Amino acid sequence: MADLQRTLLLVKPDGVQRLLVGRVLTRFEERGLKLVGLKLVRVDRALAEQHYAVHREKPFFKGLVDFITSGPLVAAVLEGPNAINIVRAMNGATRPHEAAPGSIRGDFAVETSQNLVHASDSPETAAAEIALWFKAEELLAYEREVDRWVLAPEG
Ligand code: CMP
Repeated sequence: MADLQRTLLLVKPDGVQRLLVGRVLTRFEERGLKLVGLKLVRVDRALAEQHYAVHREKPFFKGLVDFITSGPLVAAVLEGPNAINIVRAMNGATRPHEAAPGSIRGDFAVETSQNLVHASDSPETAAAEIALWFKAEELLAYEREVDRWVLAPEG
């Protein structure tokens, strides 16, 4: 099996308000990725600022924190071979006018500030973001019957 990875996915408040949570999660389930963590959360500014710390100096930082704290969002951890790149590709380019049709942003978004989803962009970011959003006991290891059809056999 290729590199088994975990990545953080957020369906941001616009996704919740636009009733797209189920459709977004279904895409990842249908692709074959495994949900190992899932919750609906209303984040406070401290967590939002930590999550977006790399953007702290950007002009859009305050608006970004305002937006992500404006309503409930769905946080998920997805697991699978090359999950980090797969989820990013399925989300599409950050700027929706550059996002390919067929991607989530390419199908459902038109504005960068309301681009529906967030996902970790590297193994280091994934580890930090998963630890920020989930306690260890909120991540569940379990077997799925379909995995023998989805994943290459070990060895
Ligand atoms: P996300 O993948 O959550 O990571 C950072 C977010 O900042 C990004 O998606 C966009 O929602 C937002 N963002 C990036 N650039 C801009 C911008 N120029 N104006 C407003 N928001 C932006």
